[in-house]
Amino acid sequence: MTSKKIETALISAGRDKKFTQGSVNTVIQRASSLVFESVAEKKFATANRANGELFYGRRGTLTHFSLQEAMVELEGGAGCALYPCGAAAVSNAILAFIETGDHVLMASSSYEPTQDFCSKVLTRLGVSTTYYPASIGADIARMMQPNTRIVFLESPGSITMEVPDIPAIVKAVRAVSPEVIIMIDNTWAAGILFKALEFDIDISIQAGTKYIVGHSDAMIGTAVSNARCWEQLREQSYLMGQMVDADTAYVASRGLRTMGIRLKQHAESSLRIAQWLETHPDVARVNHPALPGSQGHEFWKRDFTGSCGLFSFILKKRLTDAQLADYLDHFEHFSMAYSWGGFESLVLANQPEEIQAIRPGEQVDFTGTLVRVHIGLENCDDLIDDLNAAFARIV
Ligand SMILES: Cc1ncc(COP(=O)(O)O)c(C=O)c1O
Repeated sequence: MTSKKIETALISAGRDKKFTQGSVNTVIQRASSLVFESVAEKKFATANRANGELFYGRRGTLTHFSLQEAMVELEGGAGCALYPCGAAAVSNAILAFIETGDHVLMASSSYEPTQDFCSKVLTRLGVSTTYYPASIGADIARMMQPNTRIVFLESPGSITMEVPDIPAIVKAVRAVSPEVIIMIDNTWAAGILFKALEFDIDISIQAGTKYIVGHSDAMIGTAVSNARCWEQLREQSYLMGQMVDADTAYVASRGLRTMGIRLKQHAESSLRIAQWLETHPDVARVNHPALPGSQGHEFWKRDFTGSCGLFSFILKKRLTDAQLADYLDHFEHFSMAYSWGGFESLVLANQPEEIQAIRPGEQVDFTGTLVRVHIGLENCDDLIDDLNAAFARIV
């Protein structure tokens, strides 16, 4: 039998008959209590509660098991822990492995709340964090300390979109300390465009809120782990009460079925718009991993199998507050909102000093206003017209 292609796996993963019970989609099993028919059944369920036996709602129901099985098939690994949102997946994955006195090496272009978690929670627990730039490569070895417990990656970087040389980083970390836990926020790649576990990363984390759910109407986090880390991640997350309701798990499973085709369209439209922006006289730079010249493009080309709808660009000028409002307030198709990964286009802007504030240890190299867009599934020409009209408002 030939191995399944990813498009096919997205359709079939987690749809074993035990989860669908004769329908196409997995059943929604809403439960706190799960009833045992006999003492022997209760005993068996209790002994196997971590291995997919129905035991108690907090350990999951058929709906959760179906999604977990699908995620493991898609990303590889030994198991998938589910969380109420992406931020919970990040913080609980880190918490599962650290002790007082430990040290975390964190990407300086990681998602801002991830940095806040380090500065506001880990410090209270006596865990220190140092930040490395996306350009670090094998030099990360020099930043390792005897107490370094976790190396946390995010690729591409949040907002500024730099792609690091992950194989060089992982190799250097493992050479210094094979025991260190390497984790990645793999949300941009939707867990499938960059197969983190195949790169010897231990845990691949996603805000499933974005592309898995895909419709901006639910929140969920996932962490797929290799065998080495799975038991500890699973049990620690369970003890922290991490769980998601069955309806949300169902919505996530359903999102997987169309994620392949959605991602292809997001990628095609976003690259076309990025190329158009690159030629625009008001644009200084476009940060899109699939665009030659974007920081780390060569690593994206080597390590990723695709891209998505999220990227940013930098204007030649720094917009005044009034210009920024003119630019952002009148879009027809782009909405202004946090998050991304849904079917709709979104826009947000940051001034350079706002980005500087979330780049610890780094000097930002631009002076114009940064605009971040998520390119949705609308017609690309309509989106270009919308962006064109926005540029016309700031001449
Ligand atoms: C890269 C990245 N990771 C994690 C998160 C957090 O996900 P959630 O909003 O589901 O908590 C986000 C949210 O925007 C994100 O962009």
